[in-house]
Amino acid sequence: MIKTAFYDTKNYDRPSFERYGQQHDVQFRFLETKLNEDTVELANGCDAVCVFVNDTVNAKVIDRLYEMGVRLIALRSAGYNNVDVRAAFGKLHVVHVPAYSPYAVAEHAMALLLTSVRRIHKAYNRTRDFNFSLNGLTGFDLHGKTVGVVGTGRIGRIFIDICRGFGMRVIAYDHFPAKDSGIEYVELQELFGRSDVISLHCPLTDETRHMINDEAVERMKKGVVIINTSRGGLIDTEALLNGIRARKIGAACLDVYEEEADIFFEDRSGHILNDEALSRLISMPNVIVTSHQAFLTEEALSNIAEMTVANIRSCFDNDGICDNELCYRCGNVERCKKERRQRCF
Ligand code: NAI
Repeated sequence: MIKTAFYDTKNYDRPSFERYGQQHDVQFRFLETKLNEDTVELANGCDAVCVFVNDTVNAKVIDRLYEMGVRLIALRSAGYNNVDVRAAFGKLHVVHVPAYSPYAVAEHAMALLLTSVRRIHKAYNRTRDFNFSLNGLTGFDLHGKTVGVVGTGRIGRIFIDICRGFGMRVIAYDHFPAKDSGIEYVELQELFGRSDVISLHCPLTDETRHMINDEAVERMKKGVVIINTSRGGLIDTEALLNGIRARKIGAACLDVYEEEADIFFEDRSGHILNDEALSRLISMPNVIVTSHQAFLTEEALSNIAEMTVANIRSCFDNDGICDNELCYRCGNVERCKKERRQRCF
C-alpha cells in the first residue's frame, strides 16, 4: 500500500481518486489545505504527496518532505511551475499528468471567446430578468478573423483546429514549431501586431512570465481579444488593465490569474475581495473570469486520477522509473527518460 498525502482536495477530486486508488493499492490521505511550509508536516508517514497547481512546492518544502521520508511528488496537473524541479533532483522524483484532456482546455478557451464576442454573459443575465433588449449586445463574426496562438503543443493545436472550423485565419508562435502541421508560424511581435484574437497556450517559465506586458499591448491591434487558459503569470495584470482602460484591448477572457493561488477554487461570495486588480477586472463589462476551470470535465477528472495513480505505482514498482517524470537536467523536462532509457537519479 502506497500512502499518499493528497493536498488541496476538492469534492470533485475524491470519487475518481478513491476508485483508482483502491484498485491499485494507493491509499490517499485527503487534506483540504494546500501544501506549503506550514502544512508540510501533514505528510508525515506518507510515501508520496499528490499536489495541484496552487500548492507551493519550493526547496524548503522539498527538503522537509525528504527528511520525513517522502520520495515522490505526484502532480495531478500538466503545468508544474509551482514545483522547484531542480531542488527536487536527487531527492524526490517528480511526476505529472502531461495530457488528460487537452480538448477540455481548448474547448473552454473557445467557450470563453464565443461568450465574450457574442455577449452571451450579458444576454443570459438580461433574459433571466425578462429584459429582451438587444442594445449593447452587438458582437462580431469570428469567421475571417486572425487568431494568434502562442504555444502549439497539445492544447494549442486542438484550439487551432477548433478555430479553423470557425473559418478563422490562424497564425502561431512557438519556440519549437510543429513540423508538417501546416501552421503559419510568425515571430511573437508580429503575432501581437496581426491578431484580432490572441490565445495563450505555452507554459509559465522565467522567459514567458509577463509576455503580455505594456510593450506587447502597445503592438496589438485596437479591439484585440486576449484569452488566457494557460497560467496567470503570462500576463502582467497592470498592463492588461491599462490596455483595457485605454480601449486598446477589446476584451479579456481569463481562466487563470497571476495572484489566483489564495482566491480561486474557493467560495469567496461572503467576503470582501482583497485584490484590487482582480476586483477591477471582474467589474469590467468586457472581461470574463472563470476560476481555473478549463480542465474541469468528467473525462479529464477520470483521466487525471487514472494517470496520477499509474504514475505513483510506476515510480514505486519500478524503482523510481516513470515515463511522466520531470527532470530539470534534460531541458525539456518531460522527455528525460524516454530518450535516455535510464533513471534520472
Ligand atoms: P504542451 O507542453 O503540450 O505545449 C506547450 C507548448 O508551448 C509547446 O509546444 C512548447 O514548445 C511551447 N513553448 C514553450 N516555451 C515557449 C515560449 N517561450 N514561447 C512560446 N511557446 C513556448 O502543453 P499543453 O498540454 O498544451 O498545456 C499548455 C499549458 O496549458 C500548460 O503549460 C498549462 O500551464 C496550461 N493548462 C491549463 C489548464 C487549465 O485548467 N486552465 C489545464 C491544463 C494545462
